[in-house]
Amino acid sequence: MQERARDVGPWSLEKLAYLKDYLVEFAKVSQSTRAATYLDLCAGPGQDRNRDNYAEIIDGSPLIALSNYPKIQRYIFIEQEPRNVESLRETIRERGYQQIRTLQVIPGDCNLVIDEALAAIPSYAPSFAFVDPAGLEIKWQTIQKIATVPGRRRRIEQFVLFPLDMALIRFFLHEGDISDVWGSQVIQRIDELMPDKFRWRWIFKERQSGSLSSTETRRRLAYLYYRGFYLLGYKHVLQPKLVVRPDGHPLYLLLFATDHEPGMRIMDYVLHVKPRLDKPIPLFRVESFEFGDEDTWYGPAGEPIELPGS
Ligand SMILES: C[S@@+](CC[C@H](N)C(=O)[O-])C[C@H]1O[C@@H](n2cnc3c(N)ncnc32)[C@H](O)[C@@H]1O
Repeated sequence: MQERARDVGPWSLEKLAYLKDYLVEFAKVSQSTRAATYLDLCAGPGQDRNRDNYAEIIDGSPLIALSNYPKIQRYIFIEQEPRNVESLRETIRERGYQQIRTLQVIPGDCNLVIDEALAAIPSYAPSFAFVDPAGLEIKWQTIQKIATVPGRRRRIEQFVLFPLDMALIRFFLHEGDISDVWGSQVIQRIDELMPDKFRWRWIFKERQSGSLSSTETRRRLAYLYYRGFYLLGYKHVLQPKLVVRPDGHPLYLLLFATDHEPGMRIMDYVLHVKPRLDKPIPLFRVESFEFGDEDTWYGPAGEPIELPGS
């Protein structure tokens, strides 16, 4: 049998535990519409294996979502890697889910096939998108398309991994030019990842000049991303949850944006309140990313800011 599961750190189990807890409640509150939709932009092969314990193979995000069928009615899984697409399809067959006529696997880059995916979602369907990249892959334009589908009563809600420490911050050199060291395509990817092209550069320059601490640099980058969801028009954007390794090293932030107040309350409970002691996952240290409504350094909403020294 082909090796199908993807090796993951134990922190991925934490992320999937949040997804699972939320989707159970999302399914309950949405079931009466008979149209609830789950969209996965980075679906993976269907199963994950804990790299700290090879015997532990768990369902990945698509299978977690499918366990809520038929309360959640429609499934759209996007995956770029052909081997993962094949594994995902095999796992779906094995579990008997291929019978679901409203299940669709779309192979390809989610940034390119997103329009096709969004066109398949009925405008009246309560809809949830899980955006779970491994690095800088997700373009803000894709997040924006999901948030601004015309003719919808309620925006598609989004649960998004922002790869702050596991990817973005690694490119923030203490000195020198990012493009000299990493190549100009990295700049372009960061430009595409972030809600605007200006503020992250400003933060980068301030960091290099020594006027921002590492913590303040990270907090500001997180704030830019978080603020981006408000600018897209979401009514509720939760304070981000920072996921860290068991040794305390920070990895990524989880953000949730929705127009649906009950959804906001449920995810707030899942991410920030519910005790995790019942879960077979290590206890993680939680760092708070508390933001106010306004940050004085941010500048006028949506406006390019003046870059120091530019
Ligand atoms: C962190 S894994 C996601 C795992 C999955 N959500 C799970 O629970 O097992 C990221 C996945 O996204 C896929 N991927 C990366 N870039 C992508 C893109 N632009 N479009 C679609 N899939 C992508 C990778 O091949 C990988 O399978």
